[in-house]
Amino acid sequence: MQNTIEHPAEIVPVPAAAREGTSCTLEQYEAMYSRSVNDPDGFWAEQGARLDWYRAPTRIGEWSFDPVDIKWYADGQLNICHNALDRHVAAGKGDVTALIFEPDDPQGETRKLTYAQLLAETIRMANTLKKMGVQKGDRVTVYMPMIPEGAVAMLACARIGAIHSVVFGGFSPDAIAGRIEDCTSDWVICADEGLRGGKKIPLKANVDAALDKVAVKAVLVVRHTGAPITMTEGRDHWYHELGADVAAECPCEVMDAEDPLFILYTSGSTGKPKGVLHTTGGYAVWTETTFRYVFDYRPGEIYWCTADIGWVTGHSYIVYGPLQNGATALMFEGVPNHPDHDRFWQVVDKHKVNIFYTAPTAIRALMREGTSHVVKHDLSSLRLLGSVGEPINPEAWRWYQENVGHGKIPVVDTWWQTETGGIMITTLPGAHDMKPGSAGRPFFSVCPQLVDGDGGVLADETTGGAAEGNLCITRSWPGQARSLYGDHDRFTQTYFSTYKGKYFTGDGCRRDADGYYWITGRVDDVINVSGHRMGTAEVESALVLHDLVAEAAVVGYPHDIKGQGIYCYVTLNAGVEPSDELAAELRKHVRTEIGPIATPDIIQFTPALPKTRSGKIMRRILRKIAENDFGSLGDTSTLADPSLVDGLIEGRLNR
Ligand code: WT7
Repeated sequence: MQNTIEHPAEIVPVPAAAREGTSCTLEQYEAMYSRSVNDPDGFWAEQGARLDWYRAPTRIGEWSFDPVDIKWYADGQLNICHNALDRHVAAGKGDVTALIFEPDDPQGETRKLTYAQLLAETIRMANTLKKMGVQKGDRVTVYMPMIPEGAVAMLACARIGAIHSVVFGGFSPDAIAGRIEDCTSDWVICADEGLRGGKKIPLKANVDAALDKVAVKAVLVVRHTGAPITMTEGRDHWYHELGADVAAECPCEVMDAEDPLFILYTSGSTGKPKGVLHTTGGYAVWTETTFRYVFDYRPGEIYWCTADIGWVTGHSYIVYGPLQNGATALMFEGVPNHPDHDRFWQVVDKHKVNIFYTAPTAIRALMREGTSHVVKHDLSSLRLLGSVGEPINPEAWRWYQENVGHGKIPVVDTWWQTETGGIMITTLPGAHDMKPGSAGRPFFSVCPQLVDGDGGVLADETTGGAAEGNLCITRSWPGQARSLYGDHDRFTQTYFSTYKGKYFTGDGCRRDADGYYWITGRVDDVINVSGHRMGTAEVESALVLHDLVAEAAVVGYPHDIKGQGIYCYVTLNAGVEPSDELAAELRKHVRTEIGPIATPDIIQFTPALPKTRSGKIMRRILRKIAENDFGSLGDTSTLADPSLVDGLIEGRLNR
């Protein structure tokens, strides 16, 4: 969603209650931030010392953005699973609840796993994977619903040094196959089915369809709903059978800090999804530290992040961040509006959730249903709210704070990306006044910089001042992605070549005179649909795969609930007549190719796409028309056929 709020913005002061016992006051933030940029090695050596290391690192930050070579804690050795589980059990906290599972069906059974139980389950899964032949460095594809075994699968991989590649359960068989192929993964962990909003997600059947296209050595299937599924002899194994008689011990693999931990595919502006690669040591420290300071977690509290483990938010703030902090994290399989629009608040009340972290799209959808669903439940346990995934419009921010946060608790609006590993820009709850719509201030060591189209510096933490431009980060931080799996050139090209020597985020941003950052949205061909990142090129590729489609151009447009919707301009093959039926068929086609999250919102048929004389599609014009902004189409004289524009506008007005 475009963030159009102008200054002066409303300032919401730090609530008094948030100041008490906080892990970080404003004075501490300022001292720590300045130390973190003036002495990053000293700062990150200290933060990292909270973790257990088999070999303590003596080398801390060693990085260059030109050429791109990023290392943190290079001579350190550790295991993130040990830090998430064994360490707490060894410290006598084995009886603390690690995960609370809340099922899709409110009548279903809640499960609680203590740290000791989660460790035992993880060891069982780890030994089962070993029995299947999985070894250190192997890539394991995880396609799971939001059940504890999803987290267990990730932790088990980490324990034995295998690299997990989690694929969101909403992706199609084709998308799974592409991801398996890209990282040459020989192993899959999935469940029979998932449940979301009362609907069954055929996870194993989707894996079967994917494996018609690409082969793997073995599939481990977790029984969840108990639905009948097809098991392929010799390839597919039930977890409850294969894991029944494995040993109860499994030592953690000693990992070098720069050994890969996981690959997570995300959309870019061009081509197929990119396998973002994170390594062990820096990611462990970054997620431990950001969780600790941003959520200001206190022992005994219940923390709930509503994301899915298929996205980076789930990796960092359901699994690795909370568990490394010994927190109690809730995992929810369902959706906000099933069986009714009060499901989130009912769960908060039921489990007495203290910290709640969700996405603006969910807030907007629930806001639309009115406050009656909220007031039905006792939300007094809540102490801190969080937002992530896209800019939150000030109206939704206020609704969230007033109705869910009973008007007196902090809201942290956390800006970050799959590539950043964890939170980068946010207010800290006890330190910073809040400005609805602004993500806030940089986290420790983060050096944001706004540049113009030519790379000229407009503002950063050193220059101060207000400006608007493209958001870069000028120095490395421990949680930064190290590469794209198998394609370091593409990594360099995508993130470090637009502005040489700087990491370019792809986001537009404004910095105000108080040093608060306001993300204005993507400036590339990436759109953000309900907090899910989608490459317009991916949707275009899916559309043109259809037999009747000649050409397609896809852009984002403002959508009240989703933030951005998917707008498709489609040119059909000669002689094919446009129709509502065909539009419906194309929507279905894209769902099948990519998954439900990529379903087009609007399809507009057009006899041709607006192109320059050299044949380049003029997306700027298509974006403006999709936004209903016909007054500022800019220069259309360079179009090969300027008369097309009137027809496109007319087509838009007919929606
Ligand atoms: C893109 C990254 C961060 C995990 C979930 C998404 C947008 C994310 C915010 C925020 C404004 C935000 C950016 C970013 N974004 N959080 N608090 N305010 N925009 O991760 O799928 O890698 O997407 O999401 O545009 O570049 P992702």
